[in-house]
Amino acid sequence: MNYLIINGSPRKKNTWAVVEQVKKSLDGNFEEIQLAKEKIPLCNGCMKCIMDGEEKCHHFEKVKGILEKIEKADAVIITSPVYAMNVSGLIKNFIDHTAYLYHRPVFFTKKALVVVTTAGTGHKKVAKYMDETLRHWGINKVYQLKFACGGKESLDIKAIDKVAKQFAKDVESGKLHSPKFMDIIFFNVWKAMAVMDNPIKADCIFWHETGLVNHDFSPEVKLGIVKKAFSKIMFAILKRVM
Ligand SMILES: Cc1cc2nc3c(=O)[nH]c(=O)nc-3n(C[C@H](O)[C@H](O)[C@H](O)COP(=O)(O)O)c2cc1C
Repeated sequence: MNYLIINGSPRKKNTWAVVEQVKKSLDGNFEEIQLAKEKIPLCNGCMKCIMDGEEKCHHFEKVKGILEKIEKADAVIITSPVYAMNVSGLIKNFIDHTAYLYHRPVFFTKKALVVVTTAGTGHKKVAKYMDETLRHWGINKVYQLKFACGGKESLDIKAIDKVAKQFAKDVESGKLHSPKFMDIIFFNVWKAMAVMDNPIKADCIFWHETGLVNHDFSPEVKLGIVKKAFSKIMFAILKRVM
């Protein structure tokens, strides 16, 4: 298996040590991106990625390579320390540059592991935020490792190994999980907007060109009868209320 690691800490210390331990529990090839070295300029808020297409972003050349690597990898490991009760600036800036993926999700066949470390608190909230962000990108299943390192001399190797092995087994299985109800709702929000008079032309083009407008969820991901019905009902409701 090929794992892409996106490291959102500017240094190789607590978060990096957890990732090194994760690597020992996984059998695969690893490619690591240190976001600090990528030097992605700050998102300038031009909205071009959302409104006109991601390739119109002035920084797209910096971000494109990372997104292509996610596409090529079997799974992604994405990490952040807690900074002021949130993700690091490096991770937030990267997420800002992928905001268009909320509208136009693509990574439906990928799985991810989120690694968060903190001195004392904020790790659960930050891991939850990263988990939700990745699911907005379309990512099928997100695993979490979150640790408060303050005052601790050593890593919780057992806990790391347990989650890393679950993650690896899932990645190796190639099996895709049924989406959460919330993921189905968001899918239908963007789908309904695409078939209505959506002023965001890049969204309309994407949803029609990919054929996603004709599906209850991404076709690679199978829905059971209940979620299929739920998706159809959500689409009908959202089309009426929007
Ligand atoms: C700018 C900054 C802000 C931080 N904010 C918090 C915080 O809000 N809560 C907390 O418990 N730890 C906070 N920390 C501590 C880090 O989250 C913690 O040391 C983390 O494990 C660092 O990861 P790293 O070694 O990979 O850089 C902060 C550290 C820095 C540098």
